[in-house]
Amino acid sequence: MKYLPLNEISEEMFLAHAIFGNDGRILLTKGTRMTPSYLQRLERMEYTHLYVYESPDEEWDCTGPLGDKIRVEAIRILRESLIRVVERKPLNELLISFIVEGLLKDVLQQEDRVFDIIDIKTPDNYLYNHSLNVAVISVLMGRQLKLEQEELKELAIGAFLHDLGKAYIKAAIKKLQALSAMDSAQIKQHTKRGLDILRTSFSLKVANIAYQHHEREDGSGYPLGLIGVDIPLAAKIVGIADSFDAMVSNPAYGELLWNDQALEKLAAESPAKYNRTVVQALRQSVALYPVGSMVELTGGEQRVVVAVSATKIVLQNPEKISDLLELPVTEFSRIEKRVL
Ligand SMILES: [Fe+2]
Repeated sequence: MKYLPLNEISEEMFLAHAIFGNDGRILLTKGTRMTPSYLQRLERMEYTHLYVYESPDEEWDCTGPLGDKIRVEAIRILRESLIRVVERKPLNELLISFIVEGLLKDVLQQEDRVFDIIDIKTPDNYLYNHSLNVAVISVLMGRQLKLEQEELKELAIGAFLHDLGKAYIKAAIKKLQALSAMDSAQIKQHTKRGLDILRTSFSLKVANIAYQHHEREDGSGYPLGLIGVDIPLAAKIVGIADSFDAMVSNPAYGELLWNDQALEKLAAESPAKYNRTVVQALRQSVALYPVGSMVELTGGEQRVVVAVSATKIVLQNPEKISDLLELPVTEFSRIEKRVL
């Protein structure tokens, strides 16, 4: 399996994951041969990278901690929620709660699970996939920080809906794109709007996640400029998960970072902007080298990461796909660096 830019994908390769439309329809199934017409179609949809297999017999999974079924349902409910907000209708809190329980079950069922993929987003599906990833990463971090089940659920709901206040920004609903180009004063209002929307359907704790996820330890955040001791743990978790996911996959920020670079950047900005313990929880919740990364071992050998968890990593020989090397966590230090 490889993670490649679109222009390096050829007709001899096969899609390693399904491609979904924002309405939940499957557009291309996993295993589809990458014909020029499919590639053109994906390029028009503004995909820049994809996971591909070089042989149809490869079976490595690159869907991340969430199954396709819950992913599709979650995106559907998020889309519906944004529309409901714009139409000033109440949120369907029972359905949201039900979906979030499914998400928690998927994410927490495997004890050594980490966020192991490079998530593939386009400007069109960015807000949906980002919201979902922030929920998944926040739950993994919450587990590291030993939150109780009920706290994890509130964290997951708040994380999943943390940017719901962006529904009022026209571009967000028309073309659900990354919003960095928007007027920043208008963007900043999404936190207060998120609070107002969520407090009618959920607890104040959940609503405050939307309100406070842009607050920073040194008081440089918004909307209130709170300092560390006044920011609730859940908002710190979601704030860090949000920054991480944006760094690795927001196409509007230009140069995307790899996981190791983003983790380094967040560590460098702690404790000034980000709480050190919470950044440490992120470090334990996401793969340093996600599936599809090419790494160099001590001695110079290069291998592709095809599976990774908190306890082991599986490395494939790029020249011979049946040649696999499994390293337990105690031998992770044999990985020297990521190769670009
Ligand atoms: Fe936000």
